[in-house]
Amino acid sequence: MKLKTIFLFVLISLSLPAFAQETATLSISDTSKLTISKYIYGQFAEHLGHGIYGGFWVDKSLPVEKQDRIRLDVVNALKEIKIPSLRWPGGCFADEYHWRDGIGPSAQRPRMVNTNWGGVTEDNSFGTHEFLELCSLLGCEPYVAANVGSGTVEEMSKWIEYCNSNSNSTIAQLRAQNGHPDPYKVTFWGIGNESWGCGGNMTPEFYSDQFKRYASFAKNYPGAPLKKIASGPNADDYNWTDVIMKNIPTWMMWGISMHYYTIPTGDWGHKGSATSFTEEEYLSTMANCLKMDELVSKHAAIMDKYDPKKRVALVVDEWGVWTDVEPGTNPGFLYQQNSLRDALIAASTLNIFNNHCDRVRGAALAQTINVLQSLILTDKDKMLLTPTYHIFDLYKVHQDAKYLPIQINSPDYIVGSKKISAVNVSASQDASGKVHISLVNLDLHNNITIMTSLAGIKWKSVTGQILTSANITDVNTFDQPDKLHLVSFKDVKKEGDNLVVILPAKSMVMLELE
Ligand code: AHR
Repeated sequence: MKLKTIFLFVLISLSLPAFAQETATLSISDTSKLTISKYIYGQFAEHLGHGIYGGFWVDKSLPVEKQDRIRLDVVNALKEIKIPSLRWPGGCFADEYHWRDGIGPSAQRPRMVNTNWGGVTEDNSFGTHEFLELCSLLGCEPYVAANVGSGTVEEMSKWIEYCNSNSNSTIAQLRAQNGHPDPYKVTFWGIGNESWGCGGNMTPEFYSDQFKRYASFAKNYPGAPLKKIASGPNADDYNWTDVIMKNIPTWMMWGISMHYYTIPTGDWGHKGSATSFTEEEYLSTMANCLKMDELVSKHAAIMDKYDPKKRVALVVDEWGVWTDVEPGTNPGFLYQQNSLRDALIAASTLNIFNNHCDRVRGAALAQTINVLQSLILTDKDKMLLTPTYHIFDLYKVHQDAKYLPIQINSPDYIVGSKKISAVNVSASQDASGKVHISLVNLDLHNNITIMTSLAGIKWKSVTGQILTSANITDVNTFDQPDKLHLVSFKDVKKEGDNLVVILPAKSMVMLELE
């Protein structure tokens, strides 16, 4: 520790209020030229449960404002947090989806059974045009996951032509007949989903060959250069990444995906409740969440071997906490509540992505509305914003901002024989020069004083916002939709050139320095 920091530490410690029992030191520097890609803040919406049907796309008779059948209160809430991209139609559903079933007059569209998610009837009323209309209302970029598992190269190739061609080919004319003469210019295309599992149970060697075949016929059309994303590893399957990176030339893919879910207990058979858990289970959940840092670091190191210039992005296009479903709901619909714990998971994961922005240049939270770790829950005409939504609201300032490297020295949060770092953080500087620091305290009991030095960064004043609540299990409900909401944060001050923050237990604070 430098002498100046020790002096500051002693000075601050003497003037601390009695409740602050722990101290962390943080240094933030201005030494990077990297940008935090806005696509880290992407979302995912699959044909699953009430994500699309009953979430975005509702019955004509539902008494809410709509465009066609797209629910506008939901759209407006998502516009507020500037979601940059939306991945669709799956997930596992993507590899049994045939896009031609979802175009043309709605009443004539074929029906299918959604074999992955509850065996419900899919009426295909929400298809390509409806999805792209939704993205246009949201002001976000579409990210389409193409069917490799049960589809053909021709089918995928024609889907791209249908969306992007401005020619007079029959397929482009069909789009015009269906109401959209102008090409949609969809650039993000996933070549399959979880090809190691529900997307075909392939080996990485077989998938690499499939990728090259499909990608060769995924063509660029004017104004729509494709960003092709290979189906990447499941969590810590490092061999998958190694084989893909070895076999597929870097020029052929924009990114490689990675999926990792936080399972509270670590046991897929008994994942744990979303709303009722012990402190031990909270700690194990957060330890499982923080594992993302190790996963991203190790996959990135493998990618560095084959791609030292970091041309290929790591796209964590499915992440979030996956708990048992809410009691009494369809197990195939993956409906779960969202507590302050979810908010801390979202904030910690986004800090990890920001701090790996050299390689992580895309991600998608699973799954936006009514499914897994959602931003929004709906019940007929009612809707509520979850604690996770508020985190994305706070973190939108990091989108496309200059990354500021950080070094944190945090106390541990200890429960029984297990421990994790109590504090995690990321920082950025926006185009107007404002610095944003996102701080998370995972400790359920102790406030933590954070003494921060900012090398080479000039600032005069600081303001902040906080998300916290009395209990880590607190949730927003349809009866009390604003129990958890953002409030202004005052426990922060300037001490010379340094910043001193008292970060409350179980909270997330966003600071803005000008
Ligand atoms: O998000 C739910 C499912 O999790 C997706 O369909 C699949 O890709 C993953 O296994």
